[in-house]
Amino acid sequence: MKRMLSGIKPTGRLTLGNYIGAIRNFVAYQDDYEMFVFIANMHAITVPQDKAELKKNTKDLIALYLACGLNPEKATIFLQSDISEHAELGWILICNSYIGELQRMTQYKDKTAKGETGITAGLFTYPSLMAADILLYDADFVPVGVDQKQHVELTRDLAERFNNRFGDTFVIPEPLVTKVGAKIYSLQDPTKKMSKSDENPKGTIDLLDEPNVARKKIMSAVTDSIGIVQYDIENQPGISNLLTILSSLTGEPINDIVHRYTGKGYGDFKKEVGQVVFDFLTNLQLRYKEIISSGVVEKVIQDGNEKARHIAHKKVMKVKKKIGFQIF
Ligand code: TYM
Repeated sequence: MKRMLSGIKPTGRLTLGNYIGAIRNFVAYQDDYEMFVFIANMHAITVPQDKAELKKNTKDLIALYLACGLNPEKATIFLQSDISEHAELGWILICNSYIGELQRMTQYKDKTAKGETGITAGLFTYPSLMAADILLYDADFVPVGVDQKQHVELTRDLAERFNNRFGDTFVIPEPLVTKVGAKIYSLQDPTKKMSKSDENPKGTIDLLDEPNVARKKIMSAVTDSIGIVQYDIENQPGISNLLTILSSLTGEPINDIVHRYTGKGYGDFKKEVGQVVFDFLTNLQLRYKEIISSGVVEKVIQDGNEKARHIAHKKVMKVKKKIGFQIF
């Protein structure tokens, strides 16, 4: 069975973008791959985090993984900071990364271009840590939204560089980006990614949003004056985004939805999207609440950590030997 690995940062609350671009696919793939899914809390601290909030977001993320349908019998779910090998291999890979290639990473480039101050060294080097996350587990595939593809490509470069220098050590992973929904856009500015860190809460649907509030956000989503429900990302980014959301949540192909709305206006269309999002969140939150009150979260992580630690430890020992850290 081929192996697959991915993770999400517990910063802020999870969005519908995280679900459609990432979690939905983890769930779909867990039957056919050996699946590893983790909570990337070491990545979260590349920007300042409040201790209590970080703890809550971490627990929520584990519960949401389960509520979305990840099955701990099939998928290994673990907490990054509990496996110290991530930091160990992360450092070794930082020492094999060039400043130039890290400077080309979009997130860092965007932040510096905006003139943001207080950017940490961790934010600059985090793609190398992400490479360690992936390479520790010999992942063949990494399912991610389109914004993370660049990091998986860097991971491939670092793995190849290391293998060339020290001999065959790492599996070269491939990014797996879904055809529909690899980038869900803000409801208020449909040219921008829907993001946990958006300052305008109306642009983002949180998985823990009150379902009625989420419906209202869909109803007030920015569209256009063309008046035809069709997929045209250039001229109708708002409507195209809503089509993607509806298709991802129902499985109905975009073309079929467009066909159903021939000659109809945006009002009816938004109502349907709003209802589907409402139902989706209602069911999800019901399961989330059950999971939180059942206390299962701790056990899931203990079991997952144990399995992950064993694999990560073996890989780091191999790496240490290859680079000359093991002297006896
Ligand atoms: P993060 O936490 O920003 O996002 C988690 C996943 O959600 C996807 N995503 C989206 N997909 C579609 N539309 C959106 N609007 C949207 N917003 C987010 C992301 O592409 C991602 O797949 N560095 C990673 C976490 C990470 C990781 C890893 C992932 C750390 N180590 C190893 C894979 C493998 C991150 O910040 O994702």
